[in-house]
Amino acid sequence: MLIDQHQRVHNYLRISLTDACNFRCFYCMPNEEVEVSPMSKLMSKDEIVAFATLFVSLGVDKIRLTGGEPLVRKDFAKIILALSALPVTLSITTNGVLVHKYIEVFKQAQLRSINVSLDTLNAATFLALTKRDQFQQVKDNIDLLIAHDFSVKVNVVTMNGINHQEINSFVRWTQAEPIHVRFIEFMPFSQNQWMSQKVFTYQQILQTIGHEFSYIKIKDGKNDTTKKYKVLNHAGTFAIISTMTAPFCGNCNRLRLTADGKMKNCLFSKTETDLLTLMRSGVNMIDAITQNVLLKEKALGGQLLTDFTQIETQELENRSMIAIGG
Ligand code: 5AD
Ligand code: SF4
Repeated sequence: MLIDQHQRVHNYLRISLTDACNFRCFYCMPNEEVEVSPMSKLMSKDEIVAFATLFVSLGVDKIRLTGGEPLVRKDFAKIILALSALPVTLSITTNGVLVHKYIEVFKQAQLRSINVSLDTLNAATFLALTKRDQFQQVKDNIDLLIAHDFSVKVNVVTMNGINHQEINSFVRWTQAEPIHVRFIEFMPFSQNQWMSQKVFTYQQILQTIGHEFSYIKIKDGKNDTTKKYKVLNHAGTFAIISTMTAPFCGNCNRLRLTADGKMKNCLFSKTETDLLTLMRSGVNMIDAITQNVLLKEKALGGQLLTDFTQIETQELENRSMIAIGG
């Protein structure tokens, strides 16, 4: 089992398949012309499967594929089908735009739940946020997933002055559709134009929703990063990911593998372990993995520990979000 110095058991691995993306969300990409890594630096399909198998032997039973955008990887179908042979619950996080090409693959891989990132319900705002005119395709693909009985979670990075006005439109969407909307507090990463004034807090989100709806708290799972709620008589639910104002590190069970094969024990960890180089040199990786887990910081990678209004983004030591994998 993968246990850290704070007695947390880690059974959940997030694997980034690529640091490329077909969108250009400003809060994720450091700049317009990001260089993507050459294929030789990325884990191959076989290396991903070998890592996944190794982590499963160490107690991992849940794997999420992320990116960049995982569906831009040409061998995505082969990777997910190979992983579906492992005894794990598989899921993915996608920007949704290529989902219609993969419905059958998702079914074959026995995916149940899919997270789609969508920060606005307005086509013009979508274009401004992602630099791509693809709102309708993403919205249609969410409908398609629902029609095919997948459980759909919609991730909304909620930013003051950018999309906070749309919170209740998202909640209204849960009335007839069985979707799970998750409002995520805006987090700082390397060069992502974060400012504390753009954070729209957990409390502000609840207050906004309270102006229009009566909601009830529903029970959260032990390792959930979300605080879940439901408007009575709505088919779907909403939840809040309060990384900035009420972090949920106490029961964290997550580990990450970047597309270039570096292990991170936290989204905000300063350090990485270069597992891919070890694998390619034929070195046994178990010590490196257990050490990496053991040294996990108690909360937020040991960073961001001040009140969020006092955070100095220049002092953060981390990759950009696109290079970490969501
Ligand atoms: N703050 C909060 N969430 C972010 N994501 C990407 N960048 C940020 C950020 N700076 C979200 C994506 C995706 C999820 C994996 O992380 O929108 O839904
Ligand atoms: Fe792509 Fe998601 Fe990053 Fe947007 S947030 S650029 S969709 S990986």
